[in-house]
Amino acid sequence: MKRSILFCVCAVAISVTIISCSSSKKVTASGAATLKEAYKKDFMIGAALNSQQIEEKDSNAAKLVPEQFGVATPENIMKAEIIHPQWGTYNFDLADKMIAYGEKHNILINGHTLVWHSQLPAYARNIKDVDSFKTFFNDHITTIASRYNGKIYSWDVVNEALNEDGTMRRSVFLDKLGDDFVTEAFRIAQKAAPNTELYYNDYNIEQPKKRAGAIAIIKKIQAAGVRIDGVGIQGHWHLNKVPLKEIEESIQEFSALGIKVMFTELDIEVLPRNFQGADVSQRVASNPELNPYVSGLPDSVQQQLANDYESLFRLFLKYKDKVTRVTFWGVADGNSWLNGWPVRGRTNYPLLFDRQYKPKPAYYKVIALKTNAASGESAKKPF
Ligand code: XIL
Repeated sequence: MKRSILFCVCAVAISVTIISCSSSKKVTASGAATLKEAYKKDFMIGAALNSQQIEEKDSNAAKLVPEQFGVATPENIMKAEIIHPQWGTYNFDLADKMIAYGEKHNILINGHTLVWHSQLPAYARNIKDVDSFKTFFNDHITTIASRYNGKIYSWDVVNEALNEDGTMRRSVFLDKLGDDFVTEAFRIAQKAAPNTELYYNDYNIEQPKKRAGAIAIIKKIQAAGVRIDGVGIQGHWHLNKVPLKEIEESIQEFSALGIKVMFTELDIEVLPRNFQGADVSQRVASNPELNPYVSGLPDSVQQQLANDYESLFRLFLKYKDKVTRVTFWGVADGNSWLNGWPVRGRTNYPLLFDRQYKPKPAYYKVIALKTNAASGESAKKPF
């Protein structure tokens, strides 16, 4: 408790300093610099938005998102099961709203995602012959990518094509099209969306074996003369176990391929879980022991979360010439997918804003890295 009082005093002091030192900077109503403003010269800061937020039905998010974030990813509404529910029938309603939302608030949009084995409608999973599957694959990418060419900033063209050991994941794409489906997806996307950046996105690709698999995929795309602009490391990590060394190596190795490096789905799990990663098909039965913080996050955990985020952002800043975007998977704790996955009905706390959309200690630590010269990017602290 004492710590949190001390923390609040510090936070107020920081806010007052900001008001008095930088009146020209964009600030929130409370006077604090926002994430996107604080990191303006370093990399873009984004959030995944759910449909309530895209339609501005969530009044807290409607105010907070344009203040804090310069780029957004639709959490679900551009996935095949929603945007292409029946073969040849597209539902662009919410995706068009996302584009309009971005234009209205000057927020860039990262499309998510053209090719993914999950949230794929049953008709696509059940296509039997290879030629029909090729037609589906080509039509799906071409129709969606060309519709938003020039309107959308970037696409996660292929999501999660790899196993943990770096081999190709078994999926309908691999079964029907073979290893080359990733390169082909980029080839089709490049043609349909010449003005859109194209990325490969996956979780745990900071880990050495899976990273090697991702590097092989990227090199293969490049060797085919097809454009790939960046790689997204999803960044679904765990409290006190954020793999800083592997993340640093990954930034170095991926950027050496001549592409941008992004952290595209950042959140830090604070609840008990016995596996890492983000395989959406993995489920664990509910159990009160797995949901220990229903009535609030203990101070010590709150501080650890803040420290983890601080270390991560210090690392991102060290590589600000290579890291182009950091996107959180959600806006505030109450709407994080980690309340429902891998265990249903938990009370989780993985983001920078709490259930009331108020900044948490982690938020202030991330902001302080930029506004507090003593602990800023110039300080070469060990990771
Ligand atoms: C998640 C969404 O957040 C959930 O709402 C949905 O039920 C399942 O998918 N990796 C990804 C994201 O690339 O699309 C996933 O999003 C989380 C893991």
